Parts: sequence; structure tokens; C-alpha cells
Amino acid sequence: MRSHYCGQLNETLVDQTVTVCGWVHRRRDHGGVIFLDMRDRDGVAQFVVDPDTAEAFANADRARSEFVLRITGRVRLRPEGTQNPNMPTGMIEVLAKDVEVLNTAVTPPFQLDEHGKVGEEVRLKHRYIDLRRPDMIDKLRLRSRISHTVRAFLENQGFLDIETPVLTRATPEGARDYLVPSRTHAGSFFALPQSPQLFKQLLMVAGFDRYYQIAKCFRDEDLRADRQPEFTQIDIEASFVEEQDIMGITESMIRQLFKEVLDVELADFPRMTWQDAMDRFGSDKPDLRIPLELTDVDDLMQQVDFKVFSGPANADDGRVAALKVPGGASLSRKEIDEYTKFVGIYGAKGLAWIKVNERAKGLDGLQSPIVKFMENIVEDLLDRVDAKDGDIIFFGADKARIVNEAIGALRVKLGADLELYTQDWAPLWVVDFPMFEADDNGRLSPLHHPFTAPSCSPEALKDDPASALSRAYDMVLNGTELGGGSIRIHDQTMQRTVFDILGISDAEAQEKFGFLLDALQYGAPPHGGLAFGLDRLVMLMAGAKTIREVIAFPKTQSAACLMTDAPGEVSSEQLKDLNIRLRQKAKADSTAE
Ligand code: AMO
Ligand code: AMP
Repeated sequence: MRSHYCGQLNETLVDQTVTVCGWVHRRRDHGGVIFLDMRDRDGVAQFVVDPDTAEAFANADRARSEFVLRITGRVRLRPEGTQNPNMPTGMIEVLAKDVEVLNTAVTPPFQLDEHGKVGEEVRLKHRYIDLRRPDMIDKLRLRSRISHTVRAFLENQGFLDIETPVLTRATPEGARDYLVPSRTHAGSFFALPQSPQLFKQLLMVAGFDRYYQIAKCFRDEDLRADRQPEFTQIDIEASFVEEQDIMGITESMIRQLFKEVLDVELADFPRMTWQDAMDRFGSDKPDLRIPLELTDVDDLMQQVDFKVFSGPANADDGRVAALKVPGGASLSRKEIDEYTKFVGIYGAKGLAWIKVNERAKGLDGLQSPIVKFMENIVEDLLDRVDAKDGDIIFFGADKARIVNEAIGALRVKLGADLELYTQDWAPLWVVDFPMFEADDNGRLSPLHHPFTAPSCSPEALKDDPASALSRAYDMVLNGTELGGGSIRIHDQTMQRTVFDILGISDAEAQEKFGFLLDALQYGAPPHGGLAFGLDRLVMLMAGAKTIREVIAFPKTQSAACLMTDAPGEVSSEQLKDLNIRLRQKAKADSTAE
């Protein structure tokens, strides 16, 4: 139907006849001459329709915003003074001979260049219109380029693209499952995979050696800016490998991707232990663009007469951490109050601070609600954090978990608010994770998933599970966990030991994961892998704020699709077929009663 995309038209085509198909972006009637800005996925170009071409003119005259037209005409240079060097097609226009209306359009719910004036809800409800915006097209184009580059890299490295089932059994990755009732097995349910984890391990047992898949995963969990109930992983697994192999391959992949797609050279990724990351940044995904660090001051605070601080400093599970912000003494009382409110979100009961106005003046040079309680240690404290005139030091005192979350988040917020970034891209590996984390009742759960190999023997693991480390690694970029993986358990005894520690009985393990335990007996090779969140990768590379912006049809915070109105009710016949009776009747039924 067409010879060119609108965005491809330029000076090299002058005097040639071209045909384009697209949408009316803007229509202007200049007293007798009609100008049509035509848009398609490649860009916008200007078409001129004269009254001499009567039929074309009549069609152009009835065209409105977002009508679909096919136009044939001759490319010519725009007259002097009307050229637009800021537009790729701005040097030329097309004098139309034929204008055909392929379809009409009702007035759209928002003009493309006025999307900012409508809420995200309106944009999501009419996503097909929102996706016409050049900004959205660019993001989805970037996404396509990224997945293509990743595929090409992995294929070159000998990885095979193998699909794994979506209707399957539960794969535990820490979220709730999306379940699908079975019609043919009354009362039984499939679970949608939280990841292809178990299948990729079984592919290793089968001998495929190197596998990858760009796979949809489903997790019913609390949603945030970087989480969707349905998302995409670049999933990778290989046999006869150790940590270094997987980290090496995937780091090269990300480096090559950044070079090819963004022309950015990433340096070698530093490695940091999980403990170090928590101690210095209060987070297992530290944003290393921000040059601020937490400093432990427990030993000093044990000596002060201020329970709020000495309590946690003396407690086994407590922590008192200081965060020095160079130049931060200029923060106003109001700003500090806002930061105090902010850390409250993470459970912090307050945010103590010391402003260092003039160190040489001793206590008189300091301003703070707390120095009066700690005059005995204040000089040591200032030395510990290397305080200089003009700095502010914030303090968190509580259970270590709360201090890490609150002061870790404060660090990230200050980095953004005060524009402290020292670089555009700060990738790293976090390694040496604990195998398990304990909840408040001391119950252990896996920090990654229960198939992750520990760095010790089954006996040592049983003796002291709480201090065991795992062979897991996470790739972090600019404070976002981009991907995570591990060397897996390939030995049945070790797998049973881990299930046992997690309180999964033999019978339950057999019922849920019997197929995996069986497979481990049939010559399972040592293996390991990693999965990246493709949406998060694209979000970071596109400079987007949420992953919704880089997903064609995303869901809302309440896991619904505003466009299709999913999830939706089903008919009573369907429910009967599925042997399901609803405890809470569907809305339509209950109003009918
Ligand atoms: P994990 O659970 O860490 O590991 O997931 C891997 C990566 O997937 C992305 N991700 C998400 N992205 C968007 N929305 C979500 N709800 C969401 N959840 C996770 C993150 C994360 O780093 N099977 C293991 C991988 C392995 O061990 O090989 C797994 O799924 O970027
Ligand atoms: P108070 O004695 O409760 O008025 O607290 C004195 C200062 O300590 C205030 O600046 C509080 O914000 C701060 N503060 C109180 N509890 C904590 C805490 N758990 N961690 C850090 N600072 C705190």
C-alpha cells in the first residue's frame, strides 16, 4: 500500500513520487491550501493539498485528527523560510496528488501532545492511542532492540532458546501464585510459573547444557514502580559452571548491550558481599552513584545516656548508624522534618541529626537535638565520620532491619534530592548472600529460592543454617536489582536438607517437588544460572520512571487491566464446568437476587 514511512522522507527523495499511509497528526487550512501532518511509527511529515486536485482536496478537507489516510504525491523542498531543521523531515514536504480516506476516527480522548494533562488511568484505558505517541514508540522500539541484541548474544554463545510451560505446578519465588482451575481434573489447579526455574534445571538434567528463554513470569505480590504481576525475564541456565562462569557471561552480555544500544562503555563490575552492602548502604541493592555511606557507631552509642540510642547499640539485633551528608548543614528545619516523616514510612521512630557549623568551636559549633546526651563521645563521633564544617550527620537507632531500610532509603532520597550522583551508570555484583532469612518468630525462609546451593556441606548447613552463605549473586544497576541467580543444588541429599531446614516435610517435598528430587537421582550435572528482569533493564536504559512505561499493555497497582477490564467475571456455566462454586457471588448475580 505504501512506498515509504513518513519518517523516512527527506531531501534525497526530492522530485520522486511517494505513497505513505498513516494518521492525521494535525490538519491546517491555510485559506485554500490544506496542510496535513501525517504520522506513522517512524515520524511525521508535511503534505500539501491544493484545490487543483479536486478529489484529493475534498478528502483532505473532510479529514480530521487521527483519520487514517493514504497519500501519494511528489516530494519537494519546502520554500525558503518554512524549513524546520529540528525535524528529520523538516526540509521537505509532499505535494499530494491522491488522498484516500482509509478510515475515519472519532475525537480521541486526549490529543497526543496533551497526554500530560490526562491521568495515567485515561492513558491506560485507551492504551492503543497512548502508544501512538513518539515517546512510547521509542520505548517499545528500544525494548525490541534490547531483546534482539540479547538473543543474538546468547545464540552466539551457544545458548538454545527453549520454551517451558505456562500451565504448570507452583514454582516458589516468594510470591503468591496465579492459579488456573482445571476442567478435566475437578478440584485441581495449575499454577502460572513465578519463573521457569524448575524447568530450566530439568533441561540441565536432560543435557541441554546452555539454555535461555525470554519468558513471561507471573507473581501475585504487592506492586510497585518496578514490579508487575506479569513480567518478562531473560532466563539463563548452564551446566558444568561455577559462579565466575555465569557472572562472566552475563556481565559481558550487559556490557555489550549497553555498548551496542546506548554507546555506553561500562567498566568491570565491582563485587561486594551482601554483608558489606548492608553495613555500608543499608541495602542489598546499593545505588553506587551516590557517594554517601552508613557508618556504624554502636560502640560509641553504648556509652551514652540516651536510651533511644544506647538500647539498640547494646542489643544483639540492634544497630545505630550514622549518615554524613557533606554540605547538608544548609538543610532547613522543614526539610529535616520532611526527612523524618520519610524514614517513618520504614518504621523509624525518629531521625536524630547533628549540624556541624564550625568544628573548631567544639560543642558550641554544633547544632543538634541530641548532642546534649552524648557530650562524652561527640568528638570521637565526629572523627569517626570525618565531619567537616557544613556537614549534617543523620542517625538511625533501632532493630538493624529498620535502621538499614530507613537510613538506606534516606541515603537514596538524599542522593536524588540533592543531585549527588557522581556517574550515570553504577553496576555491581552483590555476592555471599545468607542462605536464609528469619522472620520475627525465627522461621527461616530462603533469601533467593530453595534450589540455591549453599557454600557449605549439608552437615554444616544443618548445624548452623542461620549463618550459612549461599552461592547466589545479584546484578545491581543504579540501585535496582536487575537480575539474580545462583549455582543450584544438584544433589538430592542437599536438596532434602534444605527442604528439611525450611520445615518442608518429606511427604510435602515429594508432593510438590517429587519430579525434581527424582530427576536429581538420574545424573544431574552441576549447574547454575541467572534471570534478568527485562522490563527493569529496559526501564533503566530508557530512563523511564516505572516499568509500566516500557510494557505495551501494563496492569495497574491493583493488578487490573483498565483497557480490557481484566480480571472479569465468568458465566455460571463456565464455573460449573470448572467445578467451582463462588463463596462470594459475582456482582451481577448478587444484584439480581
Ligand atoms: P528473581 O525472583 O530474583 O529470580 O527474579 C529475577 C529478576 O526478575 C525481575 N523481577 C520482576 N520484574 C518485574 N516485576 C516483578 N514482579 C518481578 N519480580 C522479579 C527482577 C529480578 O532480579 N528463578 C530465579 C532466577 C535464577 O535463580 O536463575 C528468579 O526468578 O529484575
Ligand atoms: P526525643 O528525645 O524523642 O525528642 O528525640 C530526640 C531526637 O532523636 C529527635 O531528633 C528524634 O527525631 C530522634 N530520634 C528519636 N528516636 C529515634 C530513633 N529510633 N532513631 C534515630 N533518631 C531518633
